[in-house]
Amino acid sequence: NIGKSTNILWHDCPIGQPERQKLLGQKGCVIWITGLSGSGKSTVACALSRELHYRGHHTYVLDGDNLRHGLNRDLSFKAEDRTENIRRVGEVAKLFADAGTICIASLISPYRRDRDACRALLPDSRFIEVFMDLPLELCEARDPKGLYKLARTGKIKGFTGVDDPYESPVNSEALAPESVSIALAQHIVIKMEGGECPSPK
Ligand code: PPS
Repeated sequence: NIGKSTNILWHDCPIGQPERQKLLGQKGCVIWITGLSGSGKSTVACALSRELHYRGHHTYVLDGDNLRHGLNRDLSFKAEDRTENIRRVGEVAKLFADAGTICIASLISPYRRDRDACRALLPDSRFIEVFMDLPLELCEARDPKGLYKLARTGKIKGFTGVDDPYESPVNSEALAPESVSIALAQHIVIKMEGGECPSPK
């Protein structure tokens, strides 16, 4: 049994999701932003967070790059570590949503199966997948951190889109247009406010 959690039982607290929702005046949910490096995930995540914040919603951004400075500092970019990275962030995002926060997760999350596993942790209306649908050539032309250049010259191995796969979503709830902008954030806000998640104050 060493190395696995066994003999564990769930402990319920009297203050649950309904009570927290009522206090905060909003429903927690997860907005999962996926796409290639340089496709504008972090920009959209922050724009969306700002838009929602000023409309009176509680938000929190989970950014792949940032989380790899702490929670996921032990993980590399090989396939099984990317899967573990997404699994952990999916679980953390679920906790944020359970706490009543609108959690905006921004990670490459290259494998469809891993993203679907995160989706499966939440009810349908509480997981919104946003695909940053920008072609590799454009991401590479932007190359905001110079990483594509390093990957093309072999200085980074296993770089997504260059010598590592990216599986595009087939059923994402939202597509980001090529020009990443506040307009997208507004579009998502309107979509969410019209739907079940979250309810405006
Ligand atoms: S993943 O695939 O979801 O586990 O990646 P993620 O945690 O989102 O981290 C992506 C950021 O890591 C930097 N980086 C790399 N990306 C892809 N492949 C390789 N090999 C790699 N090495 C470092 C890069 O800055 C990514 O940030 P973004 O914001 O996507 O450009």
